[in-house]
Amino acid sequence: MSSAEEIAVDAARLSAELAELAGITDAEPTPGGTAVTRIVFTERDLQARAWLKTLAREAGLGVREDAIGNTFFRWEGLDPALPAVGTGSHIDAIPYAGMFDGTVGVLGGLEAIRALKRSGACLRRSIELVLFTSEEPTRFGIGCLGSRVLAGALAPDAADALQDGDGRTLQAVRTEAGFAGPLASVAVGGDRYSAWVELHIEQGSLLERAGVPIGIVTDIAAPASYGFTIEGVGGHAGALLMPDRRDALCAAAELILAIEREALRSGSRDTVATVGTCAVHPGAVNSVPSRVVLQVDVRDIDPERRERVMQAVRRDARKLAEGRGVTVREEIMNADMPAHCSPAIVQAIGQACERTGVAAAPMVSRAYHDTLFMARLAPVAMIFIPCRGGVSHRPDEFATAEHIAVGTRVLAETLAGLAA
Ligand code: GLV
Ligand code: MN
Ligand code: MN
Repeated sequence: MSSAEEIAVDAARLSAELAELAGITDAEPTPGGTAVTRIVFTERDLQARAWLKTLAREAGLGVREDAIGNTFFRWEGLDPALPAVGTGSHIDAIPYAGMFDGTVGVLGGLEAIRALKRSGACLRRSIELVLFTSEEPTRFGIGCLGSRVLAGALAPDAADALQDGDGRTLQAVRTEAGFAGPLASVAVGGDRYSAWVELHIEQGSLLERAGVPIGIVTDIAAPASYGFTIEGVGGHAGALLMPDRRDALCAAAELILAIEREALRSGSRDTVATVGTCAVHPGAVNSVPSRVVLQVDVRDIDPERRERVMQAVRRDARKLAEGRGVTVREEIMNADMPAHCSPAIVQAIGQACERTGVAAAPMVSRAYHDTLFMARLAPVAMIFIPCRGGVSHRPDEFATAEHIAVGTRVLAETLAGLAA
């Protein structure tokens, strides 16, 4: 870089933009926080994307979208033919989420580029800010959809065949949202990015507890998700006598507790398991449940330990199915591998922290991020900032303007270092 004088982040503008983005929500206002619901390819998601594209154009960035809706905002370097330095995150939000998950990495990435431009930096490599489609699994049941396809980790046909809760395919939904064209055109090669860095809130409480403003992520835990369908026998809630019942929901309740028990028994705090949804059929107060579908999320930084937990869950499921006269069917929705961050990028972030004059601590990401898949394309690492009480995926998720600004400054310094 022809050295940037002073990289100054406009914290007030960034906070105002985060608040404006949070206003584009389908959630009813809730007390005690800003509730954000922004599901991929809904009107709200498209409105937020349009607003962001306007901001990026105002910042003088080139804008390009791929067939799955990943959006690339590019600041050309002095040598545009070189692989770019990438950064970015997501703006989709699970129902009743907070306003910082993902958005800090997108708007912070934009502000980092604007700050670098204002500083007069001339970088050799281009910097590309990416807004990924559907990091959250809410609509199509699988997380990191855009980055997964970009990295070639999910086949185009399999992606297009994914269905939402209304039985509509990704292909139909994306086409209606204005993203047509073959998904085969989405994947990029390993020569696209020389480095990748994502800024994100920690979504845990380690930084806050340690009083450290920056976390440098060295590993990202491996998520897996499963569907369990429990079939029993339904009937009249009054007439079907208790000894004759094969209640699918009672069996599901046992399975849920078994999943919790086996995760607790793994012996590591890095194992976590969650049953996040439970659909009961027919779902009437006076009808014995005949079918229940559970969605289960299991994570670990050790994929073998994660698999041992699942084997124990399967043994428990067989036992309870036999005891209760129901059937339990398992479907693996996805089982990803952990990502290890690049020592060189971790070091570049460390140096950026030194230049910024802030303390940093190495840490593991227990949440997943698009960086999990970008790690297949480039050397990666992530910058974490604290969030209050470690709270995330809730309306009261909160990060201070100061921490967001510091994270953005560190991101800008890192990008400058990697693109010089
Ligand atoms: C991402 O939102 C995750 O669930 O880790
Ligand atoms: Mn999230
Ligand atoms: Mn996120």
